[in-house]
Amino acid sequence: AQTVKKRAATTTPQKGQIESVLKETYNKYKDLKEGKNADYIPELAKVPSDQFAIVIIGPDGQVYSQGDVDALYSIQSISKVLTLARAIEESGAQAVQDKIGVDPTGQRFNSALAVEQNKGKELNPLVNAGAIATTSMLKGNTYEEKWKNIIQTHNDFAGRQLEVNEPVYKSEAATNQHNQALASLMNSFERMYFDPQKSVDLYTKQCAININTKDLAMIAATLANGGTNPVTKKKVVSPQTVAHVLPVMATCGLYDDSGIWFYNVGLPAKSGVGGGIMAIVPGQYGIAAFSPRLDEAGNSIRAQRAIADIVSKLNLNPY
Ligand code: DON
Repeated sequence: AQTVKKRAATTTPQKGQIESVLKETYNKYKDLKEGKNADYIPELAKVPSDQFAIVIIGPDGQVYSQGDVDALYSIQSISKVLTLARAIEESGAQAVQDKIGVDPTGQRFNSALAVEQNKGKELNPLVNAGAIATTSMLKGNTYEEKWKNIIQTHNDFAGRQLEVNEPVYKSEAATNQHNQALASLMNSFERMYFDPQKSVDLYTKQCAININTKDLAMIAATLANGGTNPVTKKKVVSPQTVAHVLPVMATCGLYDDSGIWFYNVGLPAKSGVGGGIMAIVPGQYGIAAFSPRLDEAGNSIRAQRAIADIVSKLNLNPY
């Protein structure tokens, strides 16, 4: 079996150094008010915009944190990484490549044009249409079985039992006509693998799972650790699965700004419109940050800046 690789280009920072960089970064950005909450999901507009948290989890499960680490928010698009990992684990990397696609679209995250352009073929599991299709291909014959699979996967990555944020779920379910249209369009190209409307509902519920920034860092640390949760020691997915998930994050994790992110930071990452971002230092750290105010691409501004600073100061960019 493949072992978790350490990167020769990066160094292992000392504990005290991580703590001071974290504190410094938190203080630098804590008063930044640029951007605004997502409001196309009505409930997300109500989340207190000043909340800000950063958490790093190391290879042995050590937690370093600053800010509102216990504040709960919906995972949103970051859940797409977890369902992608599960789909690869269940059906293999080739099946995901064939049934969904793994290329960046160069379009916004909810683009219908991206689906239309290539008859639903050249998508990836981290944009809405591809993510809904990925959810549809997860194991389970019924809505209930698939949901159990999804929530179990999220619980295993986070290492604790997570709950759905019901107001966010209901709010998005009542306003997600665009995602329903994406699923119907995908279905017209035979690129859905379960009932399209039920798949949208599962996807919407999965996006409404509540996490805090420590959970997010634990999810990232599990990916950094080759798919085994560093605290519970549960093998959630295999290192081979992780080796396919991280490159998709590197190329598609921050939507239409994925290239800019990778150019500047050099680490696979994933954002959600709830304001969370996680980045993975393979073999070493899971880094997570949360702040609800987003930029035009739909990525949290303070979370991007905080992670970029930390990676640079701790010399964690493998390139
Ligand atoms: O489907 C949606 O629009 C949301 N549930 C998730 C989108 C999202 O998080 C995009 N993130 N930057």
